[in-house]
Amino acid sequence: MNRNIVAGNWKMNLTFDEAKALVEALNTRVVHPNCSVILGVPSIYLSQLQALLSNESITLAAQNCHHKLSGAFTGEISVPMLQSVNIPYVILGHSERREYFKESDSMILEKVNHALSHDLKVIYCCGEPLSIREENEQNQFIGNQLRESILQLDASDMANIIIAYEPIWAIGTGVTASAQQAQDMHAHIRSLVKDVYGDELAQQTSILYGGSVKPVNASALFSNPDVDGGLVGGASLNPDDFISIIEAF
Ligand code: 13P
Repeated sequence: MNRNIVAGNWKMNLTFDEAKALVEALNTRVVHPNCSVILGVPSIYLSQLQALLSNESITLAAQNCHHKLSGAFTGEISVPMLQSVNIPYVILGHSERREYFKESDSMILEKVNHALSHDLKVIYCCGEPLSIREENEQNQFIGNQLRESILQLDASDMANIIIAYEPIWAIGTGVTASAQQAQDMHAHIRSLVKDVYGDELAQQTSILYGGSVKPVNASALFSNPDVDGGLVGGASLNPDDFISIIEAF
């Protein structure tokens, strides 16, 4: 896996026509990127957008899946469903899922295990709220989140995890972590991975930064040795902005 990744998380935005126009723009305008590009799109569009994708640098991610494999869960989408339509990635543990849908670390770990056992790769999100940052407790907080979830995986499974550090106070706020704050946390996360899995796997793991990534701050963030790219929300909805961020590598 290329360690450099720019992923978009469209969240609950765009009609199908808008989504199609965005994918068509990216198909033609993303040329020889210095990174892999992943688009986290609404589930209802996954299959149709998959068919529209013609750029080998771009792949799709689901934004969520259920923590059970099948059953009476009206409205939900399972890992085997995603696998059956050849979706390679799923975003799990996003702070919006944790906050609004009460997803616990153990539930997220169940999802991660299902995804990995069905050959999906996982973009696993972690991040602290503002109150924790103000107390300077962010390293312990993130350490606990990781220990309760992905640091329990076997090494062969951990190799299929992309970590996204998304401080909650930076998501959708226009306030970005400084390049130094991002680098410090990413180095901390890599050291936690190293403690459990050793240096080789820690060096191979992509650690993305998310939270108000914009064309204006992307290159400062990505130039840090431990920042391997971004998970981009708002700016991924605009082709000019998203392409500028991709080109920041
Ligand atoms: P914004 O880029 O809109 O702050 O969103 C970040 C995010 O939550 C990506 O998953």
